[in-house]
Amino acid sequence: MCGIVAYIGGKAAQSYLLEGLKRLEYRGYDSAGLAVLEGGKLNVVKAVGRVANLEDKIEDMGGFRGTIGIAHTRWATHGGVTEFNAHPHTDDRNGIAIIHNGIIENYAALKTYLEEKGHKFQSQTDTEVLAMLIGELYAPQEGVDLEAAVQAALREVTGAYAIAVICEKEPDVLVVARKGSPLMVGVGAGEYVVASDASAIVSHTTQAFVLDDYNVVKITRTGFRTSTIHNVPVTSKIMQLELELQEIELGGFSHFMQKEIFEQPKALSNCIRGRLNMDEGRIHLGGVGNFSKELSKIKNIVLTAQGTALHAAMIGEYLFEDLAKVSSVAEYASEFRYRNPIVEENTLVIAVSQSGETADTLAALQEAKERGALALGVVNVVGSSIARETDAGVYLRVGPEIGVASTKAFTGQVAVLSMLAMYMGRKRFMSADQCRDLMKDMERVPGLIERICEQDARIKKITEKYTHRENWLFLGRGYNYPTALEGALKLKEISYIHAEGMPAAEMKHGPIALINDGMPAVFIANRGRQYEKVMSNIQEVRSRGGHVIAVATEGDKEITKYAEDVMYIPDIPECLSPMLAVVPLQLMAYHAAVLRGHDVDKPRNLAKSVTVE
Ligand code: AGP
Ligand code: GLU
Repeated sequence: MCGIVAYIGGKAAQSYLLEGLKRLEYRGYDSAGLAVLEGGKLNVVKAVGRVANLEDKIEDMGGFRGTIGIAHTRWATHGGVTEFNAHPHTDDRNGIAIIHNGIIENYAALKTYLEEKGHKFQSQTDTEVLAMLIGELYAPQEGVDLEAAVQAALREVTGAYAIAVICEKEPDVLVVARKGSPLMVGVGAGEYVVASDASAIVSHTTQAFVLDDYNVVKITRTGFRTSTIHNVPVTSKIMQLELELQEIELGGFSHFMQKEIFEQPKALSNCIRGRLNMDEGRIHLGGVGNFSKELSKIKNIVLTAQGTALHAAMIGEYLFEDLAKVSSVAEYASEFRYRNPIVEENTLVIAVSQSGETADTLAALQEAKERGALALGVVNVVGSSIARETDAGVYLRVGPEIGVASTKAFTGQVAVLSMLAMYMGRKRFMSADQCRDLMKDMERVPGLIERICEQDARIKKITEKYTHRENWLFLGRGYNYPTALEGALKLKEISYIHAEGMPAAEMKHGPIALINDGMPAVFIANRGRQYEKVMSNIQEVRSRGGHVIAVATEGDKEITKYAEDVMYIPDIPECLSPMLAVVPLQLMAYHAAVLRGHDVDKPRNLAKSVTVE
C-alpha cells in the first residue's frame, strides 16, 4: 500500500532508490528494504522503521554500484513489522527478488500448493508467496523467462498488486506490473525510474506512463514492452508529469501538513480559477461539459468516499439538496459497495478522493457504474485510477498533498462540490443573480482563509491549554456537522488524542454522560440558521463543567459569555462556511500534535493512500 521505487539504467541504482524512498516516506510505512543486482548477484538489505535506518545499514556495508535495483516501503498487511517480513522477498531457487504493494488475497491456497512443491518460506507475508510462485513458474530453458513467469503467476493471483521484479539470471531486465495499486514508469535518457507515485520520479524525468490494471512491463536499458498478463501487447502512452519539485518540498515550513494548511488560499484560488463565470451567472466546469444534458435529468445523488473525503462528501449532501434541490446521500464507500445498493434511474454517483486510488472508493464507483449510475470524480491526482474510471469529473487543482492528514484537499473538495451544486442548481431553480451572489462569496474564500491563518499564534496558545486532555468532543450542526467530524479526525490521527465528532443535538442522547470538568468540547458556532440552538448546546456543556472552545463569527461578542476560548472566522453564507470553519480546527490539531511531540507527517499506523480494503 505504500512505496515502490525501481531503477534500471547506466548509473548506480542505489542513490535513485534511496532518494525515491525518501520522497515516498510521506505515504506512511513501517519498514523499508532494497535489492540491487551487482555482478549477477542479488544484494538484499532490509530495516524496520525509517528509511534512514536502511541507509545506515547500506552505508555500513559499503554501498552498491549495481545499475538495476528495486526498493520498497512496507505498510504491513500480512505478518508483523519485522525484518523478515519487509520487502524485497526472494524465491528459493532462481535469485528472483520482488517488491509488492497491495494484498494477494488467495495467498493461503497458493502457499499450501508451493509448500507441497517443496518451497520453504521465511516470512508470514502474502508477497513471499508471489515471489515463490514466480520462481516456481520460471523456466528459461523452456521459454518461460522472467516476463513470462510474472505474467503466468499473476494469472493465478487474486487481489491487488503493484510489483517490481528482478532476477539474477536476467541482470538486464526489470519487470513491473499492476492491478489495483498505482504504478508508473518514468522514461529518462537511457534509464527508467518506476514508482508508485510521481514524486519519486520528477527529479529525474517528467516523461512517464501509468500502468493500467493487468499491465506487465518488461524494461531493459534500451526500451520497454507493455503487455497484459495474457501477453497481449499494449501501447503505453507517455505523458508529461505536471508536478513541480518545489511542490513536494517543505520550503521553510516544519511539516508538510503545516505547509498545506497555509497553502490553502493559493490552492483554493487555483481550484476556482476560470470556473466562475460572473457575466453569465453560471459555473463553468470543463470536465463535466459533455454530460450537461444527463446532469439536468439527475434525480438522486450518491456521494461516496472514505475518511476526510467522506466528510467533504457529507457537506456535499447538504449543498446539493440546498442549492440544486436534488435528493442526495453521502455514504462510506466501504459500506455502499457491499450492501447491494439500489441505484435508480438518473442517479449520479460522485466519488470524492484526494489520491484517486482509495480501494473502497474505487470499488464503490465501479459497483454504482455497473448498476447504471452516471459516475463523476472529484479527485486531486490527475490520471489516478478513480479519475480514469469515472465518466467525467472535476479535478481539485490544489497541488500535491504530501501530509498524511488531509487539509487542502478537504477545502478543495468542498469548493468543487460547492461549484458542482451551483452548476446543478442553475440547471434547476437557481437564478443567475443568486448564483452570482454565491460566486462572489466563493471568490472571497481564499482571502478569508488567509485571515484565519493569521490567527495561528493565538490558536496555538489556546491549544496549549488543552493538549494534556485525552478526550475531546467536536460538535456542530447542519453544514458544520461534517466539519466537526473532520476536526475530530484531524486531532486523533496526528495527536493520538481520542476525539469524537457529532451533531451538536446528538450530545444529549448519550455522549453528554462523558462530560466532566476535564473535557474540552469544540463547538462550531458561527452565525447561521441554527446559531441559537448551538448556543443552547454550549450551555449544556458549560453547566456540566466542560471546557468550551468555540469557532465563531467575527464580531460575535455574545459567544464570549459562554465559551472559554474563541477562534474567529469571517462572516460568509452558511453553505460556504465549512471551508473557513475547518481551518482553525486543522491548526489546532497540528499544534496539539507538535506540542505532544509527534511526527506530524508520519503519524503512526497511517498510510497516505489506502489501496487495500
Ligand atoms: C485524512 O486525513 C486521512 N488520512 C484519510 O481519512 C483520507 O482522507 C482517506 O483515506 C481518503 O483518501 P482519499 O481522499 O485519497 O480517497
Ligand atoms: N501485503 C504485503 C505485506 O504485508 C504488502 C504491503 C504493502 O503494500 O506495503 O507485506
